[in-house]
Amino acid sequence: MSRIEQLAGEMRLAEKLGQLTMTAAPYAVTGPYVAGDLTEGIRSGAVGNLLNLYGPDMVAKTQRLAVEETRLGIPLLIGLDVIHGHRIQFPVPLGETSAFDRDLWRRTAQEAAREALADGVAMTFAPMCDVCRDPRWGRIVEGPGEDAFVGAALARAKVRGFQEAGLAACAKHFAGYGAVMAGREYASTDMSTRSLHEVHLPAFAAAIEDGVMSVMPAFTELGGVPMTANRELLAGWLRQERGFDGVVISDYNAIAELIRHGVAADLPEAAALALKAGVDIDMMAGAYGGGLPVALERGLVRIEEIDAAVRRVLKLKERLGLFEDPYRGHGAEPEAAITRRRALAREAAAKSVVLLKNEREVLPLAGVRRLAVIGPLADAAAEMRGPWAAASKPEGQVSLLEGVKAALPGIEIRHAPGVAIEGDDLSGIAAAVALCDGVDAILLCLGESAAMSGEAASRAHLGLPGVQDALWEAVFARAHVPVITILFSGRPLVVPKLAGKSAALMAAWFPGNEAGHGLADLLSGKISPSGKTPVSWPGAVGQIPVFYGERNGGRPYNRGDHYTSHYMDVPNAPLFGFGHGLSYGRFAYAGLSLSAPTLKEGGTLTVSVVVRNEGSHAAEETVFLFLHDKVASVTRPLLELKGFEKIMLEPGTQGSMTFSLPGTAFRFLGPDMKPVFEAGEVEILIGPAADRARLISASVMLQAG
Ligand code: NOJ
Repeated sequence: MSRIEQLAGEMRLAEKLGQLTMTAAPYAVTGPYVAGDLTEGIRSGAVGNLLNLYGPDMVAKTQRLAVEETRLGIPLLIGLDVIHGHRIQFPVPLGETSAFDRDLWRRTAQEAAREALADGVAMTFAPMCDVCRDPRWGRIVEGPGEDAFVGAALARAKVRGFQEAGLAACAKHFAGYGAVMAGREYASTDMSTRSLHEVHLPAFAAAIEDGVMSVMPAFTELGGVPMTANRELLAGWLRQERGFDGVVISDYNAIAELIRHGVAADLPEAAALALKAGVDIDMMAGAYGGGLPVALERGLVRIEEIDAAVRRVLKLKERLGLFEDPYRGHGAEPEAAITRRRALAREAAAKSVVLLKNEREVLPLAGVRRLAVIGPLADAAAEMRGPWAAASKPEGQVSLLEGVKAALPGIEIRHAPGVAIEGDDLSGIAAAVALCDGVDAILLCLGESAAMSGEAASRAHLGLPGVQDALWEAVFARAHVPVITILFSGRPLVVPKLAGKSAALMAAWFPGNEAGHGLADLLSGKISPSGKTPVSWPGAVGQIPVFYGERNGGRPYNRGDHYTSHYMDVPNAPLFGFGHGLSYGRFAYAGLSLSAPTLKEGGTLTVSVVVRNEGSHAAEETVFLFLHDKVASVTRPLLELKGFEKIMLEPGTQGSMTFSLPGTAFRFLGPDMKPVFEAGEVEILIGPAADRARLISASVMLQAG
């Protein structure tokens, strides 16, 4: 008999429910309730899994309770939010997405996993697969931005990276969380089935295809059905249609919250709804341990349903090797591993920065002898970690100021914060502005604090918080030299005036431990910027949601024609659209060619294009490939991303890139929501960003049969 069958046969109900329970230890606080002392719960078998515990000694001590002091000796599964690094932080996910670099995404996940494994962690609650088109939502920082194709690519790279290293990944938050009403955290979601399938589910489908071991339902409801109890999507789409056979783990207290959602009268009902939908592990609601025995008595659930969930949890523990090696954390890693990880963090920091504007090529800094570094985020090392600081410590982070000082030793650097990130104290502005006299350039470091994005951090105003506007206005009033603005934030900010005035503008997001070094590598010209924004930057909050993949509508905007789709007070287009991002090179596209003028569903189309660096610096370009199906049985987005690749080019050189598109890439969901491949003309557009004016195009005729 297999170990799992033997254990399942020996288990008492309370022990089974213990395996379906995950309780929070107090070493990180990621939810509204924390449990007290867990010793007795673990010893009795009532707590079979933990989150928020790490460190080899603590893990070993706690694991020993389960392995040596419980009746059956089943090891605990220990999970933690290893979101963008563990002790060493890489850029926040939205930042790292900007690198459009699958290999980088995978390598940072591997490194984070190795570090977390050394700390005794077995599972991470990542990747976050929530596509989001509303920067008011603070959790946009944790995800892939606005596009489903990017979301799927990122999910694959992260799942592979984490799991190759031996850490179980968890695709979350299933599904649609990124569409919370008005960008307000935990609010309900409501969307068409088409949006759900076209925009929000592809990243999950990709994670499942690549073998993700667990999935976490979102806190939110979707069209009246809370995701934690959503049978149609959990039992139906996820398990039946997609064949997911891993573990579904609830979000923090989410099963008990079914009562507040108004779909369960008490804990037993809530527990029954979640179990029946397919949720195996109850995180922090006490609903399975407390509610399922009563639910069984009431006939709301069957013991076979509990047993099936228990088997899935035991299988996961077995797959992770926990039975063989429950005390996995071996603690301190060799110095070489840490050095390698910091080098990767520096590379990732530099690659994640998006150069949004660079007027008259003011960057890289050249001929600068005196530099003023002004603003509350210039020397804010701890903020660089972003909102999921995990196990990292505030010390050991490199601020922009430190990075610039290290990179430019011969330069006189003057610094003042001017104002705090938040608050209304204007008293430091005069001193900061005085530093602008006699310098050759000014770096203005503005933005949000790390805590202003992430969970429970929605904002309605997306400008700069506090009195930072007063600071930059005073700086521009005084400055006679180029002002280079560097924004740190967990979301696109709405700063059209500041963008207009700045000679150069960089979106640094939160770059992680090596923030200062990574940024200094770009400012000094050691490396060219290469990031591109994975989310549109609105010019006004009222434009939200603004994203590139919109549909034409029957009255698309036509200048001068009043009865067409527009605002009276702002343009339709975002300030910076999806894919925008400059480098120190200058790229030209030519020679778009298709392997054939026609394509059948079973065939493959090869698309090639020549990219030339006409600038004077070596730089890397991300090349995007979009489709537009002009006439179809349902309306199609004006641009739909189907590929992206990167190319590094020395000045004056060119390279050819090819994209291979299988016929299936041209399928879409027809009127009945089933995938169809329709005959007709499809435009293929290639270029640097989702901006039709900058794309070159060719057409292919799709042929049936
Ligand atoms: C709540 C968050 O929604 C989720 O993303 C996270 O993994 C859990 N807390 C555990 O910390």
